[in-house]
Amino acid sequence: MPALNYEPVVFLPQHGVLPPLSAIQQEILALKRERNAVILAHNYQVEEIQRVADYVGDSLGLSYQAAQSQADVIVFCGVHFMAETAKILNPSKPVILPDLEAGCSLSDSCPAEQLAAYKAANPGLYVVAYINCSAAVKELSDVICTSGNAVKIVERIPADREILFVPDQNLGAWVMKKTGRKMRLWAGSCYAHVLFTVQALEKVKLQFPGAPVVAHPECVEAVRDLADEVCSTELMVKYAKQSPADRIIVVTESGMLHRLRREVPDKTFIAGPTDTCACNDCKYMKLNTVEKLRDALKTLSPQIHLSAETIARAHAPIQRMLDWSK
Ligand code: 13P
Ligand code: SF4
Repeated sequence: MPALNYEPVVFLPQHGVLPPLSAIQQEILALKRERNAVILAHNYQVEEIQRVADYVGDSLGLSYQAAQSQADVIVFCGVHFMAETAKILNPSKPVILPDLEAGCSLSDSCPAEQLAAYKAANPGLYVVAYINCSAAVKELSDVICTSGNAVKIVERIPADREILFVPDQNLGAWVMKKTGRKMRLWAGSCYAHVLFTVQALEKVKLQFPGAPVVAHPECVEAVRDLADEVCSTELMVKYAKQSPADRIIVVTESGMLHRLRREVPDKTFIAGPTDTCACNDCKYMKLNTVEKLRDALKTLSPQIHLSAETIARAHAPIQRMLDWSK
């Protein structure tokens, strides 16, 4: 039995008082103006990056932002599949990712060759791909979804089609429960979200009696079942604003607590714990740093490159998602 011998990570209300920007953050803002760049950041980025971004959000919001950006350069602070999606949606712009090594275990769990072989062996499947997958997997898919619109997307698929949902079995199982629609699930998962456990969550619930739990659908079913709300990171902000509770337990990657603290400044947020740690970082998301962001703006690298054929083929299922989720 693991020890669980740590103190909870608690973000007390900030009441809108933010620390002044550092010299490097000021430098990033100046370079951004000089380059006419837009900085798009996912909710899991470090707080220093979130503070200098033009937009901070979930995968769905970031996709809309990337598609409509008029900036000369898109600097994407997130992971590789997100920056690829931005490139597919706005291919004439350079898309910069501060650290090209920022991958995703979930995306890696569905190699395109394996999906192609599965489709060949099981013809006629309608493939719904969670956006956390490579451009090559998107090319093989019929429609993309995010955690923010997965239920809506699956509900749009004709009832006579058999669905294969890739790559996240946990999000897929949650969607099946919400929609009542049976789907074949690819056996992938997010290495970080599956670390949240019932015993760690029960312990923190005892420490903060009455505090509701909001969890990401990438968590395992037993953890989702303990949550008061299961939703995307963007919807967590909405939930926190609307909830009458003044203390909320947040079961997702720890960067989310920074976003919540800024947007809901009068509430207390408690990080969802694992068996070994009081909070949970995604090692890929955390590869981006303010130093790498500054250097990326200076050198306009590293850039995302995709072939015109890949962009054309991967664009169709992403555009279908954007149209269906309006
Ligand atoms: P959201 O779209 O809910 O922000 O999730 C992205 C992600 O990578 C979760 O692990
Ligand atoms: Fe991928 Fe999980 Fe990190 Fe999200 S938290 S980027 S799903 S590894």
